[in-house]
Amino acid sequence: MEQNWESLTKQFTEMIESASDLSSIESIRVELLGKKGQIASLMANMATISKEEKKNYGMAVNSLKQKTEKLLSEKIEQLKEKDMLEKIQQEKIDITLPASRVKYGTKHPLTIVREEIEDIFMKMGYSVYNGPEVELDFYNFERANIPADHPARDMQDTFYVDENRLLRTQTTAIQMRVLESQHDKLPIKVICPGKVYRNDDDDATHSHQFIQIEGLVVDENITMADLKGTLELLARSMFGKQREIRLRQSYFPFTEPSLEIDVSCHICGGKGCPTCKHTGWIEILGAGMVHPHVLEMAGIDSSKYSGFALGVGVERVAMLKYGIDDIRNFYNNNIEFLSNYKRFE
Ligand code: DAH
Repeated sequence: MEQNWESLTKQFTEMIESASDLSSIESIRVELLGKKGQIASLMANMATISKEEKKNYGMAVNSLKQKTEKLLSEKIEQLKEKDMLEKIQQEKIDITLPASRVKYGTKHPLTIVREEIEDIFMKMGYSVYNGPEVELDFYNFERANIPADHPARDMQDTFYVDENRLLRTQTTAIQMRVLESQHDKLPIKVICPGKVYRNDDDDATHSHQFIQIEGLVVDENITMADLKGTLELLARSMFGKQREIRLRQSYFPFTEPSLEIDVSCHICGGKGCPTCKHTGWIEILGAGMVHPHVLEMAGIDSSKYSGFALGVGVERVAMLKYGIDDIRNFYNNNIEFLSNYKRFE
């Protein structure tokens, strides 16, 4: 049987060259080199070939087979590379595309105000003290000059845990702990921020849990003038440089004298508006000179040392500052409400 090896080689080469992807080259490989493929059948033809021609025929088939294998493997490599380049091209990330915006959380308005107050005091050299929220009756009341049968206990409805323990009703409890632990390391100049609890019904202006910041200074020669200067600075830092303060006489068992502090209204500047109930003044905190008996109970010589203390409600300041009329807004976890306060950070 005469075979035109040259034209077969050409034909196979063209077939291989024509393959445009990996799946078509695979079917061409089967067609040419597979068990039932063209080269296999050329080999099978050997049986029908005369002895004289067998050698030449065999060499020709082998050479065709080798050429085909080489061409195929080259083509497969080439197609694999093309395939990979295409994939890379498709998967390429366009770094110039604008990224989707990441939403950052914002600080809670109460955190913002608490940190603002803390910063004001820390700049004046105060350090920060914490205390337990489940507190002993002893520090919350007894040491604050409010013994068991004292009528002042009625001023603060209390959640009792057991006979001796309660959820602290005032950060004044921390003040009492500081007085005791620092009585021999005077002077004292601290603020004590923390949550406090009252057995109150929640409404627009009352919450069973809120945040207070206690301030305490004890040294020789501390007077009301020091307290007044401190309060003025606090009021002006929080509510604006133009603010004036007014001290009114009040009563707290742990201070003598006791004061209620008003700040001139930051909304109307003192002319009178709904926020200040047309008085021009807004009450912001309680303060006073630490009662000598409180100093003595903690082991501090009240003939040598004196001090002032103040207690400010963070919710109240935040409500005034941001014009929020319902304290419950702070606790509802309403993202829309909370995200309003970003710009104040
Ligand atoms: N403990 C008081 C309260 O919760 C606030 C207070 C008033 C704290 C006067 C003080 C102070 O340190 O001197 O109502």
